Amino acid sequence: MIFIEACFKRQTKYTPTWMMRQAGRYLPEYMEVRRQAGNFLNLCKNPELACEVTLQPIDILDVDAAILFSDILVTPLEMGMDLKFEAGEGPVFTNPLKNEKDLLSLSEDSAKNLTYVYDAIKLIRQRLDKSKALIGFCGSPWTLSTYMIEGRGTKTFAKVKKEVYSNPSFMHKLLQLLSDSIKEYLENQIKAGVNAVMIFDSWASALEEDIFLEFSWSYMNEVASYLKSKYPSIPVILFPKGVSGYLDKIDGNFDVFGVDWSTPMELAKQKLGHKYVLQGNLEPCRLYNKDSIEEGVRKIVDVMGKEGGHIFNLGHGILPDIPVEHAKYFVQLVKELTARS
Ligand code: CP3
Repeated sequence: MIFIEACFKRQTKYTPTWMMRQAGRYLPEYMEVRRQAGNFLNLCKNPELACEVTLQPIDILDVDAAILFSDILVTPLEMGMDLKFEAGEGPVFTNPLKNEKDLLSLSEDSAKNLTYVYDAIKLIRQRLDKSKALIGFCGSPWTLSTYMIEGRGTKTFAKVKKEVYSNPSFMHKLLQLLSDSIKEYLENQIKAGVNAVMIFDSWASALEEDIFLEFSWSYMNEVASYLKSKYPSIPVILFPKGVSGYLDKIDGNFDVFGVDWSTPMELAKQKLGHKYVLQGNLEPCRLYNKDSIEEGVRKIVDVMGKEGGHIFNLGHGILPDIPVEHAKYFVQLVKELTARS
């Protein structure tokens, strides 16, 4: 698996590529399966259909890794929180957490309850070509806590940050509960057959430096070291989004650092390239225009070279109105421009 080789900084015949949100709404084939499922959560809970949409981008785009089709919010869902995906609005929890007392209502068995995910992984691994890696994932404790306390997407993070500054012990209890749950969840994903795992910290960008280190990074790091000590051959990818100002403080036992589109690749390489393989970071909106794709890919290849230490990806998820042709062009162009002679 060229993707796994690259995660361990070994030279490969070209730089492997995949895209965050590669199984999603820009693919008409995905929309058809989601229609069959009825809604997004049904799709996540149906191993046969989740397997089908996971494999779609492999067949259509020929990317080097599949990412399990699911969502980070299945963790709080299986802790017992009521989750709805409302059209045009994204995820909504009808009873967001308000205080420490509410933690008592959360189940510690979420990882045990997520059997539909492990069933999907087993099916995918059976049907996925042996040369392609399967990536498992979860949300970081901090990013999950933002949805559990805000109840939905937010611009200000006012509710959750109010707790960070006024009630840190409530936050630490919640973050520890989430860390314990995702350790077990990722471990179960590994046992079911994933070849690498990625932790998405999409809302790292909401926090100032010291608070990011204390409330987000330390928990992700704890989960990563736990997994690395037990499963050294499984690459761990961490993606704290929007932390370009804090790269000097990034340290820990993991393999790949996900670089978001707002972080200059030169800077990431200078600060972290000697310690970690870097994944990223084409600005996803470049996919609207073929010339912009080529310009962006060439810039990244100029910085990262072809000698290993890099996995190509977008700097965040692909948007639903991107033409499939452009996504294919991106993947093919990376292969062409990074081929070792
Ligand atoms: O292809 C893949 O990358 C794998 C599947 C995947 C999904 N969500 C499917 C999905 C992954 C890895 C995620 C992660 C996820 N989910 C994150 C972290 C990454 C990021 O994007 O920052 C977050 C914050 C979520 C929570 C979430 N799920 C939101 C905010 C939304 C609404 C987004 C939107 O664009 O409407 C979702 C829904 C969701 N998750 C969709 C998909 C394909 C769209 C659902 C649909 O079909 O309508």
